[in-house]
Amino acid sequence: MKVLVTGGAGYIGSHTVLSLLTAGHEVTVVDNLANSSPEALRRVETLAGRSLASVEADIRDGRALSAVMEQSRPDAVVHFAGLKAVGESTEKPLEYYANNVFGTVALLKAMEAVGCRRIVFSSSATVYGEAQYLPFDEAHPLGATNPYGRTKHFVEEIIADWTASVDGAGAALLRYFNPVGAHASGRIGEDPSGIPNNLAPYITRVAVGSLASLSVFGGDYDTRDGTGERDYVHVEDLAEAHLAALEHLGGATGCHPFNIGTGRTTTVLEMVRAFEAASGRTIPHEIMPRRAGDVACSYAAVDKAAAVLNWRATRDLADMCASAWRWQSQNPAGYADASG
Ligand code: NAD
Ligand code: UFG
Repeated sequence: MKVLVTGGAGYIGSHTVLSLLTAGHEVTVVDNLANSSPEALRRVETLAGRSLASVEADIRDGRALSAVMEQSRPDAVVHFAGLKAVGESTEKPLEYYANNVFGTVALLKAMEAVGCRRIVFSSSATVYGEAQYLPFDEAHPLGATNPYGRTKHFVEEIIADWTASVDGAGAALLRYFNPVGAHASGRIGEDPSGIPNNLAPYITRVAVGSLASLSVFGGDYDTRDGTGERDYVHVEDLAEAHLAALEHLGGATGCHPFNIGTGRTTTVLEMVRAFEAASGRTIPHEIMPRRAGDVACSYAAVDKAAAVLNWRATRDLADMCASAWRWQSQNPAGYADASG
């Protein structure tokens, strides 16, 4: 299959592109490199032993996008491109709406112009907002609590309207829970710029010594040990979920949301201990006040993805931590100091 991947140079995108290439698909990546390095794609090609086409362009640039569509004539699009920092989205909401919402509209228009009718979209569990019950299933009411989450919610609605209006169109909305880990080789991984907002990349930076200590946000939640519980999912499992979704869309029309998680939770302190075991390093940490906007617990009902996509996460927390440590210890400055 010919697959166009927006945001393919990023964290989840690069792992998915590798899975696509390994499965024999032809891949074209469109990325403006706003939050990624071309080095990631060079390494993906080496790992896959195959080449891909890569275009540096912004998905909001209709002319550039049309040119790529005309050239590559994709059978399907996997759409990762977007901004993803919750805190930043409250400071710069218009940038988030312009990039994530307008970017997607531009993408759908460009797809329509070349008759491409299949899309897999990177949504997020954040679309559910406050839990009315747990685990979150796909029928849980949506109610994102920040601009980033609302962009994901709005894009889901836009894609649903689009599939309803175009004969034969099909979409899978993948609601990721908490993606962590890296490719087993340690050659590609998560490389956030600046100080990481998320738990796993923060811990890995403490482990390599580039950050001194982890602040544990809240020790008084109503959870197993008082710290936040999340459903962490290995990025390689996540990558495989995209392949399963593409396969499903080969025979399905309409717009379908799927939770992509493990159905299990890990607390912040459990994550610290698992990472210490994987790395052999001590992670200095201190319990601090809760972070505004955090929920106590979030995890996925995973039955729908299993039943419809025939996909289930197979890697465990130890795999997530070991691979993240391999990546970070072999690449202490991420792709920045890489010579290949
Ligand atoms: P990432 O920042 O590593 O990857 C996003 C990629 O999109 C980057 O390479 C960036 O340069 C590119 N990009 C951004 N705006 C663009 C534009 N206008 N045109 C072209 N390229 C553009 O992020 P990621 O963690 O790989 O996330 C991928 C997707 O998954 C995002 O849509 C994100 O919102 C979603 N998601 C991520 C998480 C997570 O915790 N990582 C959780 C849920 C959902
Ligand atoms: N945490 C800390 N210290 C840190 C960072 C995080 O204690 O330095 C805690 C948080 O309080 C939370 C847990 O670790 O209990 C996980 O936090 P993350 O920031 O890693 O992840 P979130 O669950 O807050 O959010 C993530 C993504 C969102 C996405 C959401 C989907 O950042 O983009 O998962 O559920 F929408």
